[in-house]
Amino acid sequence: MRKLTISSTIFVWLLSATAHGFLLGDPGNGKLVHQDKCAACHIDRFGGDGSEIYLRKDRRIKTVEGLMAQVEFCDRQIKSGLKDDQLDDLVIYLNENYYNFE
Ligand code: HEC
Repeated sequence: MRKLTISSTIFVWLLSATAHGFLLGDPGNGKLVHQDKCAACHIDRFGGDGSEIYLRKDRRIKTVEGLMAQVEFCDRQIKSGLKDDQLDDLVIYLNENYYNFE
């Protein structure tokens, strides 16, 4: 019973952390994963150094939840098989450098 209480507290904390846009992850690692798995294709299609796609005027991502969903979507599309913590690292890297959601 006690264990259950503790884990549901952590669960609620994680939920509210996400809701408040407090992202957990390592942006330095996200940058490396991004260079390795993501940048080439974006550069191919959108030119520049790979950041155009995130900075274009009509970019599609408007919320941090949207960003998480898009990162997961691109990951599934390319079957890169990234782990959850690598996806978190990517989200925090992209957010800190380009999107700046709260
Ligand atoms: C095979 C090509 C390809 C690869 C590899 C790829 N993407 Fe994308 N990505 C795209 C295309 C094409 C779009 C634009 C889709 C649109 O405009 O509807 C896109 C859009 C995005 C966007 C939304 C940009 C916006 O409009 O704000 C994000 C974020 C993103 N990709 C993240 C990633 C991440 C993270 C990875 C690596 C795990 C990745 N992508 C790998 C092709 C790719």
